Amino acid sequence: MRRPFIAANWKMNTTVDEAVSLVNQMLQELNGFNSVDRVLCPPFISLQAVGNMLKRTEIGLGAQNMYFKEKGAFTGEVSPLMLKDLCGYVILGHSERRQYFAETDALINQKIKAALTAGLIPIFCIGESLEQNEAGKTGDVLSVQVKGGLAGVDADDGIVIAYEPIWAIGTGRAATGIKADSTIGFIRDTLGSIWGKDRADSTRILYGGSVTGANIEEFIKQPQIDGALVGGASLKAAEFVSIVRQTALVKS
Ligand code: 13P
Repeated sequence: MRRPFIAANWKMNTTVDEAVSLVNQMLQELNGFNSVDRVLCPPFISLQAVGNMLKRTEIGLGAQNMYFKEKGAFTGEVSPLMLKDLCGYVILGHSERRQYFAETDALINQKIKAALTAGLIPIFCIGESLEQNEAGKTGDVLSVQVKGGLAGVDADDGIVIAYEPIWAIGTGRAATGIKADSTIGFIRDTLGSIWGKDRADSTRILYGGSVTGANIEEFIKQPQIDGALVGGASLKAAEFVSIVRQTALVKS
């Protein structure tokens, strides 16, 4: 019912040449797994070059951030209208944006609405810190992030949600499949409380945080987990292809 979805978040890695080379290494194999939605999110500067390489494929392209204004005096920012010409997706609310660039739920909400207005599909990230997790506050934190980020957002917009516990990002300390599944089940229930059960049941929710070729199966075989948002392992062509291949096998 929910198509599996694997996205690569390259974060602030790769020059344009390196991005092109990375896509060259994975493109042919990646192109073979059409039962999985695959989305590459390179840095802004490589969107055009990578987009050209993906043109005759069904592989999607996404940005990693965006401002919510259409245009104007916002030095250094990139607008939804600029992205719309280049790609179909945009990662919003990533914990690194929240942590290092002080993004709030209210700002992320404005960005999500602006992305949808422009016809971009947000990959909306949420997740708790280690302290919040250890204090038993995961549910409260996620509920505030979901309700704040999605205030006034229509369920029909096709938004994709990524649950990325901060303590699992880039640490090699992934959540367990069972724990991630139950937390994502909680997120789906929270979505149900705002959008109704049917819409919540059709929304894709990904897991992110130290996903690799060695552990993807543990996540993807869980009923609530529809895919993954992959950081470090998406910078290695063979490993990212392996993640997509295993997803295609398990979810088919
Ligand atoms: P890692 O896969 O490197 O832990 O990063 C996860 C992430 O933040 C993806 O957005």
